[in-house]
Amino acid sequence: MTAALEVRDLCRSFGALNVTRDVNMTLDTGARHALIGPNGAGKTTLINLITGVLPPDSGAVFVGGRDITRLDQAARVKTGLCRTFQINQLFRALTVLENVALSIAERRGRGSALFRPFSRNTDVVDEAMALLARLGLAEDALTPVAALAYGGQRLVEIAITLGQRPTVLLLDEPAAGVPSAESHLLLDLLETLPDDIAILIIEHDMDVVFRFAERVTVLVDGAVLVEDTPANIAENADVRAVYLGERRDG
Ligand SMILES: Nc1ncnc2c1ncn2[C@@H]1O[C@H](COP(=O)(O)OP(=O)(O)OP(=O)(O)O)[C@@H](O)[C@H]1O
Ligand SMILES: [Mg+2]
Repeated sequence: MTAALEVRDLCRSFGALNVTRDVNMTLDTGARHALIGPNGAGKTTLINLITGVLPPDSGAVFVGGRDITRLDQAARVKTGLCRTFQINQLFRALTVLENVALSIAERRGRGSALFRPFSRNTDVVDEAMALLARLGLAEDALTPVAALAYGGQRLVEIAITLGQRPTVLLLDEPAAGVPSAESHLLLDLLETLPDDIAILIIEHDMDVVFRFAERVTVLVDGAVLVEDTPANIAENADVRAVYLGERRDG
């Protein structure tokens, strides 16, 4: 089977600091994969290399078997590789529905059509409403993003990304900054995502990791320490040492 995402021998340094060291990772279609590791391990850098925010020093990235290493960020999105938008990329004054419809219109190559009334983009609006309904966000459709609680805004980021119809979805700490009282909403949403999307989630909350992921990669000092099932990762003495060491230091 062709992997949804394959990262091959990826390396990157900043000056003398080797932030990504020979990283290999494969996500099959529909994978539920978590990337964990201490602060500064290089998790976000890895996502930046995969999505084209940063060029690697060496190594390659494949989506559906296609080498995308030389494509720019926008071209990578068109291959089905999407990440959650940073919060400041939401159009805060626009409604949830408008934000999601913008994403869908862009995918359909109709960015300019947005300056027309929504009534002339009924197919886009219908698709956006169907997506929001599937994610349990229909009630918020007409709410301006700025009026949502922070946890709700992070759910909208995921909805916008799904508007791009990804085959591979990269989520960099989707629960960060979300009050714990709201984090179950994120978990609920993650569980409704289509089975055929391969998902890589960076997450510090081990409850989220263990509930969501089928495979876990542990990154330490830019290199893969181990990849295994959540149960085996929980038992792994090397992984425990990394986290216990971190706790003692912190
Ligand atoms: N543009 C940059 N220039 C120089 N050093 C950088 C740059 N980006 C990241 N780094 C360094 O690379 C290392 C890895 O950073 P990265 O943000 O990838 O870690 P992380 O695992 O995502 O950490 P966290 O859990 O805190 O989000 C850190 O030491 C960081 O300071
Ligand atoms: Mg990070």
